[in-house]
Amino acid sequence: MIKTMKVNKKEFETLAVRTQIETSQFSEHSVPLYLTSGFVFDDAEEMRASFAEEKQRDLYSRYSNPNVNEFTEKVCLMEGAEAGFAFASGMAAVFSTFATLLDAGDHVVSCSSVFGATHGLFTKYFPKWNIECSYFGINDVERVESLIQPNTKFIYAETPTNPGVDVLDMAYLSAICKKHNILLVVDNCFATPYLQNPIKFGADLVIHSATKLMDGQGRVLGGITVGKKELIREIYLFSRLTGPAMSAFNAWVLSKSLETLAVRVEKHCENALKLALFLEAHPKVKWVKYPFLKSHPKYEIAKKQMKLGGNIVAFEVDGGIEAGKSFLNAIKMCSLSANLGDTRTIVTHPASTTHAKVEQDVKTAAGITDGMVRCSVGLEHVDDIIQDLEQALNN
Ligand SMILES: Cc1ncc(COP(=O)(O)O)c(C=O)c1O
Repeated sequence: MIKTMKVNKKEFETLAVRTQIETSQFSEHSVPLYLTSGFVFDDAEEMRASFAEEKQRDLYSRYSNPNVNEFTEKVCLMEGAEAGFAFASGMAAVFSTFATLLDAGDHVVSCSSVFGATHGLFTKYFPKWNIECSYFGINDVERVESLIQPNTKFIYAETPTNPGVDVLDMAYLSAICKKHNILLVVDNCFATPYLQNPIKFGADLVIHSATKLMDGQGRVLGGITVGKKELIREIYLFSRLTGPAMSAFNAWVLSKSLETLAVRVEKHCENALKLALFLEAHPKVKWVKYPFLKSHPKYEIAKKQMKLGGNIVAFEVDGGIEAGKSFLNAIKMCSLSANLGDTRTIVTHPASTTHAKVEQDVKTAAGITDGMVRCSVGLEHVDDIIQDLEQALNN
């Protein structure tokens, strides 16, 4: 069903632009939106064969849809994955992947520095399903192997992490997984497939919140899990029963967005590095964390795994919680919003918002300090971004 133009070179940018579903009888250039819940069959035999999976075709949009197929195929090509399934949001992808892989009595090893909602699944819902989770901190990865139990199903990691922008060595984690015959599941949301392909470093499954840089314009929610065919098959079977699928409209928007992912992400990264260098030299900034700054504790690993440093810069404003809040109050152009990966630069202060109720030891393990600000660097002119942050720091 997916048609790719015949091109000699299958480079990332070309695949992003030229991967598309079959054109209709109208020979349109831009892919149409297939806003339909169901699909029709010629006769009872075709319907039987389709439901029996003897015939490959779309049956019902909870299972698959042409626009969703196109988005999924593009991400698989970008990640070097065998198969994928697209979801209504990043958290639908995270939850459905966990729900498919885990049984009551299982155990997971995860980095403690993961997205708040994912952490919420581990702490609030896993216990009620008798699933246990053991954590390792960003600075004690050497403990990972000792946390593995006979009932451990997978190691879970984000790299770079949200919101601390720490970097984990995927090849190291994957070697441990292979040794113990368990899976490595990586949330690649901060990097996007343009900057980093976890499968190359041994990941079995890769998860994305497509809401972030994949959309890149703060419009729609989406998520996707890609990886080994047999694992995706199980995720598909779970999802076709439970209904977390991506909508055709969002898939249409997101598939178009992927066409410009490379150019957008290049510019995001250029702006982010310039901002990080500016902040590093500012007297009111205690520290800056950006994967491609030489001062980043995992700079060498970031260089090995990522093409560029991404669009998220974390830094500590001198003066703790109150200084963090005052900084946000003094911001004039950038947005105060919970989202990230938008064309518009966004600043957040985790200690007074998303992590206000999180225990101190959990925050410390996740690298979240009182005056820490997370900046999702956008596509405004970098001089204007720097000017806004500078006047807020000097305020
Ligand atoms: C690293 C990471 N994973 C998953 C998610 C969840 O994505 P969504 O908001 O699309 O459900 C987010 C959202 O910020 C995230 O930052």
